[in-house]
Amino acid sequence: MDKILEIIKQEKQRQAEQLQMIPSENYASEEVMKAVGSHLMNKYAEGYPKKRYYQGNVNVDKVESLARKRVLQAFGLNGKQWGANVQPHSGCEANVAVYNAMLKIGDKIMGMYLPDGGHLSHGWQMPGRKITMVSKIYKVGFYHVNRQSRVFDYDQIEKQAVKFKPKMIICGGTAVPRDINYQRLGEIAEKIGAYYLADIAHEAGLIAAGVLKSPFPYADMVSFTTHKTFRGPRGAVIIGKKKYMDRINFSVFPGLQGGPHIHSIAGIAIAAKEVQTKAFKEYAKQVVKNARVLAEEFNQAGLDVVSGGTDKHLVLIDLRKQSLSGWVVAWALEKAGIIVNRNTVPYDTGSPYYPSGLRLGTPALTSRGMKAKEMKQIAKWINMVVEHVKKEKLPKDPAARRKFTKSFRRRIVRDEFLRKMRVEVTVFARKYSVPGI
Ligand SMILES: Cc1ncc(COP(=O)(O)O)c(C=O)c1O
Repeated sequence: MDKILEIIKQEKQRQAEQLQMIPSENYASEEVMKAVGSHLMNKYAEGYPKKRYYQGNVNVDKVESLARKRVLQAFGLNGKQWGANVQPHSGCEANVAVYNAMLKIGDKIMGMYLPDGGHLSHGWQMPGRKITMVSKIYKVGFYHVNRQSRVFDYDQIEKQAVKFKPKMIICGGTAVPRDINYQRLGEIAEKIGAYYLADIAHEAGLIAAGVLKSPFPYADMVSFTTHKTFRGPRGAVIIGKKKYMDRINFSVFPGLQGGPHIHSIAGIAIAAKEVQTKAFKEYAKQVVKNARVLAEEFNQAGLDVVSGGTDKHLVLIDLRKQSLSGWVVAWALEKAGIIVNRNTVPYDTGSPYYPSGLRLGTPALTSRGMKAKEMKQIAKWINMVVEHVKKEKLPKDPAARRKFTKSFRRRIVRDEFLRKMRVEVTVFARKYSVPGI
């Protein structure tokens, strides 16, 4: 067996034996995986259905056309008013394609501030340091959450937008536990004559299932990744008002990409059908219920849950009250078989690599059929780990920090408490099936 196939086997085992709580991860169905691993991957198909630059597209044209149709259906959209592009290879490319379609170099854009939950692809930059290519091309402004409530203040966003006058307002992010007021943002964009892009990468599946509010018809363009709550393969989609679709399509190809990943597009088409089922709607409801149970359990244990709870699939914990780093807790949890990600929290003073928070999600656990009872057990384990490492303070000084991180990683391997928990977690996790395993 090739070494890679052996590693894949190990990864399957890891996915079955650990608790996957990264909010942007999920388990795609067996049908989705079958499509992605199919012969479609052998086909080049630059262009769009019926307008390809290669021959032999009789089948791939059907795949892409069906994917576009199903994606619109998933959000209850009329093909006369809206169009879909299913070719972006990822969420970042989808967003860049929208900017490239609608903006000129040097135009202003305004999105959510990254440490407040926003996303890199909305032009992340720091004072004196342009991190993303987007920030080198456009002038970027950010809006923030309120320091006390840690939720977005739309009156404040309106004032800022009127003053900054962006050509595009963007919303969406990776760590926003509360629902977004798409209607209000649409009104603000209209007031200042800006385009409005809603990036629903995290929420797409929950919105399609009707569990969260929809950005349609308020946004001019909506982008999303297909591998998070949408539970499809890795990839992304742009849906736009029909009048903008020629520009968007031209921006994706030939503007930014070459051949579409038709095998992924086939997986997206299958996922787009799956999200329309009754079973998926029940799943999406349970995702949110489960996240609320987690938030409640953390609140009761005295942890600082950002914004006090969640409306979605994710919970954000601020560990500054415990003077703990997300880095320390996330590594300890991994040793116990619980996979979360460390994350910045609003007004964080830690670096993105050593942030002060933890971001935990329920999409993958819920795909395994877990409900409130299981969430309570998992929250209990997480609370125990936080308590267990409470004396492990990450030094601020880089040299002392290097020494600490090395020693901490070594110590947790031998930690009996975490080892014992790992055994319990493995026995627990194995009871819940994973598609394809
Ligand atoms: C809000 C948002 N937009 C865009 C992306 C980028 O997606 P990708 O990693 O597929 O480029 C993500 C991924 O986490 C995201 O959360």
